[in-house]
Amino acid sequence: MSNFKTIIYEKQDDIGYVTLNRPYALNAYNLKMRDELYQVLGALGDDTEVKVAIFRGAGERAFCAGADLTEFLTAPSPIIARQARWERDVWGLFLSITKPLIAAVHGYVLGSGIEIALCCDIRLASEDAQFGLPEPGLGIIPAAGGSQTLARVIGGAKALEILLSGRWLKAEEAHRLKLVNRVVPRKELLPEAERLARKIAGFDPVAVSYAKQAIVRGLDLSLGQGLEPEAELADLISRLH
Ligand code: COA
Repeated sequence: MSNFKTIIYEKQDDIGYVTLNRPYALNAYNLKMRDELYQVLGALGDDTEVKVAIFRGAGERAFCAGADLTEFLTAPSPIIARQARWERDVWGLFLSITKPLIAAVHGYVLGSGIEIALCCDIRLASEDAQFGLPEPGLGIIPAAGGSQTLARVIGGAKALEILLSGRWLKAEEAHRLKLVNRVVPRKELLPEAERLARKIAGFDPVAVSYAKQAIVRGLDLSLGQGLEPEAELADLISRLH
């Protein structure tokens, strides 16, 4: 796992660390990163030593400044560039992981940067974080799940306003809209994410995974329907004890 070029994947004390690592390009998401993220997510899902993972960006300036625009320039059109980028179902894989995922974001969190954070379960932001979806201004739309995940997290009207207007949000507004769970000073971002990760990692991993699945599966269902997966998972876990 150590010879990736765009991502650093590390493990320490039950916690997996996934660092987007192209700081010279504000961690822009390119095809190489797509391929490597796909591999890392597969490993993360399977690795019994990892109970919870933290996603972060290398360098001082960004979690991720969105899709790599230089790849757009070399493709016949932004749409073709986008198609190539989504050939692998990175986002389906991301959303299928049953372990808790924490995004610790700072600086620019744009386009696929927001979308990666939205594939995580809990989002912590530093005070300098700025959020935006520049896609419509580039003649494209979010394609890493963002049109669906953002609307589910902050509601349709706000998601529409932010996406259609291209308006950026500062950390405080992102917190008010519930896009992020908590805002902390920059130097506290990783320690805060680690405190949370350690707390979660201290619990029974099956209970944690089932609790995540009960909430995530229920989000797309009515309350009555959502009670079914909860009952099913509660029954399954009671048989384990
Ligand atoms: N793709 C490729 N390279 C990117 C990038 C992206 N999405 N975002 C930033 N970079 C690169 C810049 O080209 C620059 O490289 P260079 O030093 O070789 O010239 C480096 O990262 C630093 O960015 P820079 O633009 O100089 O920083 P800034 O502080 O002036 O501006 C941003 C920061 C985020 C406002 C600006 O970089 C930007 O608008 N990026 C594009 C955001 C975007 O539209 N993303 C696509 C979403 S679909």
